[in-house]
Amino acid sequence: MVKERIGVLTGGGDCPGLNAVIRAITRRGMQYDFEIIGILNGWKGLIDNQTIPLDLAAVSGILPKGGTILGTSRTNPFKNETDLAKLKKNFKALGLSALIAIGGEDTLGAANRLYREEKIPIIGVPKTIDNDLSCTDYTFGFDTAVNIATECIDRLHTTAESHHRIMVVEIMGRHAGWIATYAGIAGGADIILIPEIPIDVDEVCSLIDKRHKRGRSFSIVVVAEGAKLKEGAEVLQEQQLDEFGHVRLGGIGERLGTIIEQRTGYETRVSVLGHIQRGGSPTAFDRILGTRFGVKAADLVKNKQFGKMVALSGIKIISVDLQEAVKELKTVDKEIYDIAKVFFG
Ligand code: F6P
Repeated sequence: MVKERIGVLTGGGDCPGLNAVIRAITRRGMQYDFEIIGILNGWKGLIDNQTIPLDLAAVSGILPKGGTILGTSRTNPFKNETDLAKLKKNFKALGLSALIAIGGEDTLGAANRLYREEKIPIIGVPKTIDNDLSCTDYTFGFDTAVNIATECIDRLHTTAESHHRIMVVEIMGRHAGWIATYAGIAGGADIILIPEIPIDVDEVCSLIDKRHKRGRSFSIVVVAEGAKLKEGAEVLQEQQLDEFGHVRLGGIGERLGTIIEQRTGYETRVSVLGHIQRGGSPTAFDRILGTRFGVKAADLVKNKQFGKMVALSGIKIISVDLQEAVKELKTVDKEIYDIAKVFFG
């Protein structure tokens, strides 16, 4: 009997836990007697027909590895008609009966359109360090990024304290302040600034002053890369947009550090954590979440429940409509930010 062939791809920014998902899809798929095909470099691999077989040997030993063994890209398959036509032709030529797309808002947004407009049978798996996808409590990769950022804040604490300095730490997360809020709480930040709430510089400086007046000679200011000053726009690294129309954020830390030093007179230094937050081995939490997502994704394929995304709801893995998941970004909720604020200043 001919085996069912299932394609798997990883798109968008890489993150720790991707290999756990790939391994879980492959292992569960083998139980269902599926033939699993890895598509290289996100949607680009389906446009260019670049694949590898995913079998026991291919996924052996990859669980603790960061990044993705399939490679990734920020290719948008809807950018032009020719690429879309090639993608559809290759999907057919490869004899795929389903596709599992592991990605964030862009990859899953494209997956949703391919399912709805092109009738390609697709399942989505939510990935991103930013944790900004709706309909799931957490995306995998987020926990690892939070742990890395927390460790960095711990390290900055000791040097800030020794030198009596203000340390500004710029943290990733795009237009959502999840990593900044969680790592800030875990690392005991004195101020956390996120995209959801424009920065009031007067308030930041007065919080720092208040701390100094009560005898603390250093402060840790966590700022999310997407945060903006009350009277300004997001700070960008470059003007060019990516294929999905996204800006490249970065630089708010430096801008804020300069203002804080000028206004308070306290010596200030800035650290930009950057891609360190995305690299390396996943935490146990992300390995387990990725594994559970991967098993569930293969189960959905087996049951032919397409157009769905696997998700975490409380402690349960569920499936939700892809359409709902990509409708709007999940930003930081007030409840958690209010907890962070208890410790400001
Ligand atoms: O979406 C994940 C993320 O790391 C964001 O936090 C960040 O803004 C962006 O990707 C960086 O993208 P790139 O890897 O293309 O520089």
